Amino acid sequence: AEPAEAHDPFGRLGLTYDDVLLLPGYSDLSPADIDTTARLTRELTLRVPLVSAAMDTVTESRMAIAMARQGGIGVLHRNLSIEDQAYQVDLVKRTQTGIISNPVTIGADATLEDLDTRAGQYRVSGFPVVDADDRLIGIITNRDLRFTPAAEWATTRVRDVMTPMPLITGPAGISREEATLLLRKHKLERLPLVDADGRLAGLITVKDFVKSEQFPNASKDGQGRLMVGAAIGYFGDAWQRATTLIDAGVDVLVADTAHGNVRMLIEMVERLKRDPATRHVQVIGGNVGTREGAQSFVDAGADAVKVGVGPGAICTTRVVTGVGVPQVTAVYEAALACRPAGVPVIADGGLKYSGEVGKAIVAGADTVMLGSMLAGTEETPGETILVNGKQYKDFRGMGSMAAMSSRGKKSYSKDRYFQAEVTDDDLIVPEGIEARVPYKGPLSTVAHQLVGGLHQTMFYVGARTIPELQAKGRFVRITSASLQESHPHDVQMTVEAPNYAGRR
Ligand code: XMP
Repeated sequence: AEPAEAHDPFGRLGLTYDDVLLLPGYSDLSPADIDTTARLTRELTLRVPLVSAAMDTVTESRMAIAMARQGGIGVLHRNLSIEDQAYQVDLVKRTQTGIISNPVTIGADATLEDLDTRAGQYRVSGFPVVDADDRLIGIITNRDLRFTPAAEWATTRVRDVMTPMPLITGPAGISREEATLLLRKHKLERLPLVDADGRLAGLITVKDFVKSEQFPNASKDGQGRLMVGAAIGYFGDAWQRATTLIDAGVDVLVADTAHGNVRMLIEMVERLKRDPATRHVQVIGGNVGTREGAQSFVDAGADAVKVGVGPGAICTTRVVTGVGVPQVTAVYEAALACRPAGVPVIADGGLKYSGEVGKAIVAGADTVMLGSMLAGTEETPGETILVNGKQYKDFRGMGSMAAMSSRGKKSYSKDRYFQAEVTDDDLIVPEGIEARVPYKGPLSTVAHQLVGGLHQTMFYVGARTIPELQAKGRFVRITSASLQESHPHDVQMTVEAPNYAGRR
């Protein structure tokens, strides 16, 4: 055993975002040269290094779609049943990105009532009609319903109102240019794609084509579908959750716990990366706050490591348990283990302003995960609440009483805080709080400010790319007097800026 005198319980000083600033560097860049492409995992890159947090007041399918369109990615929270979470993955994967490789279909014998339900369920307005062998036999859209009175929907079959074959179709593997020509020539809304045997191989809609042009940075998989992540745990039916999400088409699984340096979780990551049925999917391990914690995931084969113990806006882990690592130091330490192994680092939690994205990257991160900065946007789950004439949305910690107790609905994610076996609400020890944040409008405007801020960071530092920012960036440590100087001071702010609402 170590002699008592050799043990220094104080260790090193931990620093966080407010303790540092980046030094300006020589720059010969024009803003157009700057490229924010970053590695999310060993195999996935994003044009924009932003990830939305796996929190039930932040990321469900709407947020995940919006994040992927902006060039980032969303991680679907796991405080819901396996089926519901897989359904959310499915919604993202089916969202318009040009060519829908696996469109929702309907059979000819379904009733119009079935069709209406299915249209609502998948939020689509039309379906290719297929036979039992998946051969295309027609197409039907909401418009076709209009000519049948609602009273007859229960008895009218799809085959009676659909537009039957022959239809104008395209071959599987059609190029964007060829598809555009066909859509234009025949004034089509939808172009089904079929293989040599007449089996449905995809669907193109005009609306999607326009959208995919509107989002040039969108994060897409090899088939042109939006990318999406989903959180998993390690307890109970966690393996089933992971494999169901994989079947639904998830691109990246995120081992989501408050303390990742735990044997069962590390083994879960190891198993996912070893099993032939699951190892093709990217797996992120987390959360850690030390070099040693990061090393455990690197050794387990994780494709990225997520860092953050207690920095989050709604977190109380550090006060409840006394455990945590100031975020800049935590990211720096984790990167010492990850960088040599080529494993990307995600800085999760604690960001308050756009300038901290660059700080996280210089500390050693490749991407950042955001909760509170995205909370309150239009795409988050939940309604807006009106208080004294101002709009708000709820935002709560996944370790809050509300998220862990049976209040409202069943909690599926108590194992994030290692309390899966606590069945009595009174015995829960929360590590987060419930809060409210101002309504912020659409994600696109928030993302624009974040990415714009990062562009400016890179210009000031003189870094054209994220790897250059990581290599060139230098910190200066600051005092609390300097922090005061950094923020607006000695004036009364009269108008909030779109990227600054005051000091938090
Ligand atoms: P921000 O600061 O971006 O942080 O809102 C988001 C991250 O906070 C973590 N998280 C929690 N941590 N108690 C905690 O200690 C909680 O209740 C809690 N809920 C979320 C999580 O890592 C998230 O991405």
